[in-house]
Amino acid sequence: MTIVTGTGPRLLQAFDGHPWDIEAYLRVGGYEAWRKCVTESNHEEIVNEIKRSGLRGRGGAGFPTGIKWDKVLNHRMKERYFVCNAGEHEPGTFKDRYLVKHYPHQLLEGCLIAAHTIRAKASFIYLNHEYKEERENLQKAIEQARARGLLGKNVLTTGLDLDIELFSGQGSYVAGEETAMLESMQGRPAMPRQKPPFYPTDFGLYGKPTLVNNVETLCNIPPILRNGAGWFAQVGTDKCPGTMLFSLSGAVNRPGIYEMPMGMPLRRLIEDFGGGVPGGRHVKAVFPGGPSFSMVTADQLDLPMDFDSLKKAGTGLGSAGVIVVDDATCMVAKTLQFSSFFRVESCGQCPPCRMGTINLETLVSKIEQGEGTQKDLDSLLQLCGFVKGTGYCTLVTGAAVLVQSAVRLFRHEFEEHIALKRCPYQPAPAGVGVH
Ligand SMILES: Cc1cc2nc3c(=O)[nH]c(=O)nc-3n(C[C@H](O)[C@H](O)[C@H](O)COP(=O)(O)O)c2cc1C
Repeated sequence: MTIVTGTGPRLLQAFDGHPWDIEAYLRVGGYEAWRKCVTESNHEEIVNEIKRSGLRGRGGAGFPTGIKWDKVLNHRMKERYFVCNAGEHEPGTFKDRYLVKHYPHQLLEGCLIAAHTIRAKASFIYLNHEYKEERENLQKAIEQARARGLLGKNVLTTGLDLDIELFSGQGSYVAGEETAMLESMQGRPAMPRQKPPFYPTDFGLYGKPTLVNNVETLCNIPPILRNGAGWFAQVGTDKCPGTMLFSLSGAVNRPGIYEMPMGMPLRRLIEDFGGGVPGGRHVKAVFPGGPSFSMVTADQLDLPMDFDSLKKAGTGLGSAGVIVVDDATCMVAKTLQFSSFFRVESCGQCPPCRMGTINLETLVSKIEQGEGTQKDLDSLLQLCGFVKGTGYCTLVTGAAVLVQSAVRLFRHEFEEHIALKRCPYQPAPAGVGVH
């Protein structure tokens, strides 16, 4: 389900027809921006317009897109590459899947503009290997665009050759981290590189400058260039203009993808669009940016949903995977669920992450099963302090932040498990707690 807020459709423009139908996309102004880029605009002009729009990457870090494009376009090395990151593997995030499936032409147009602007030698879309229908739609869109002379050899009879290749991803969470993704595209294990110095804009695919952008970031490019940077910045906040696609899941009546301007309150998403918590229950906690960022509690639902406001509140927006937890949920069990995810998904390259994620899961599991002690709780927090900020990517930091925020906000639940020697949310076995 998709709902666009009062400002009218911006990223998710409605069109009449199948998602892969190029005619339907052309009717709403599709490929106009691409046509203009190839025939009229120069590369610097395109980058400047993206800079003026204030667009920030939607893949998690919120890095200014125009600055990234500028770095690659003006790199002294002339062999460059472009990769669209459609790896998407984080629990609670499914907006890129929606975009690839329903807006393949818009994504393709964004990719063509990005690849052309930085003068890429070759261009790829790195797609989650489980996204079968999405891949088919994208493939159909590529074929239709090729038949129309919009990509391939001699684009729009300008002499430009530009193709986009689909690359089937490795299907792991870490493989979505940009340097791990580039490693895997070169046939190596999907393990992140050390940064600095190996940022993709300097040392990307085959060691050459590479532009990596998220699916949603790229889908924003055609409407920005078609309508102008000023139009884009009409909604959102000064430092986070535009809208964002929120993947809303967990304890809500209407989970789905919702497009909202940046800076709207979390409450609006959960109550107005998500229809509130089902079964007469209440919000207990929310992950506003997926399991790698601190949770917030029911008294924080007026928080504005944008990169800066959430950072200021001690959490983060990430890729806007909003997970709602209700008051019937055991927070130790919820923490365990995501701790297990991090343990499974650690690529094992960095020792603090390899061992840290195993030990975090073990200690949380011990407490959840009623076998934990106060010493285990102390060790758990100590371990979070040791591993946070280590590793070549942020996976282990996310795993530690999850546990720290759970203990900070729901310490009493951890202590109750220890005191009762069982999970209070599970029915007590016969005899336990009876004196
Ligand atoms: C563990 C991990 C997984 C990630 N997975 C994704 C992903 O699936 N898709 C994505 O676009 N970015 C992902 N990122 C962020 C990318 O490394 C990168 O910042 C992003 O693709 C850049 O695009 P943007 O500037 O358009 O946001 C991940 C980062 C980490 C640390």
